Amino acid sequence: MGRFYQDTRRRFLKRLVKGGFTLLASLFGITAAGFLYPSEVKKRTTKFFYLLNEDDLPKEGVKKMELAYEHEQRAMVLRVFVVCNAGETFALSSVCSHLGCLVDWSRSKKRFLCPCHGGSYDIEGRVLSGPPPLPLTRIPLKMEGEKVFAGVKV
Ligand code: FES
Repeated sequence: MGRFYQDTRRRFLKRLVKGGFTLLASLFGITAAGFLYPSEVKKRTTKFFYLLNEDDLPKEGVKKMELAYEHEQRAMVLRVFVVCNAGETFALSSVCSHLGCLVDWSRSKKRFLCPCHGGSYDIEGRVLSGPPPLPLTRIPLKMEGEKVFAGVKV
């Protein structure tokens, strides 16, 4: 009787542990599937936010700016570089294409430098050295009257 009881109890505990693992594995699988296959992929659109006045655009070289805007009731700040090079004016994101550190413009070296892994980009945002796989992202600019707006994907 005692041995039967212990045997049954042991089997019961084994089933309980197996069931627990199965339940955990199922929950993990469902969670992972939710990340891998979201039911609704949020579509991002480009919205334009005021950056600076036309008079403040650089005539030559690089100007570091902070683009402040609000998205879903949250204050956001994005560091961008407004560049005027060979008569063309454009804006670049400061986010390194390697792992997302913020690059900075080195006036003396005439290149954007990433402090994290030594990546560097030329004034057009093209990769010069280091691990970055892609150029710096260009940020669209548009003029409305004398105001310049920068486009951000939100
Ligand atoms: S994050 Fe910029 S080089 Fe690695």
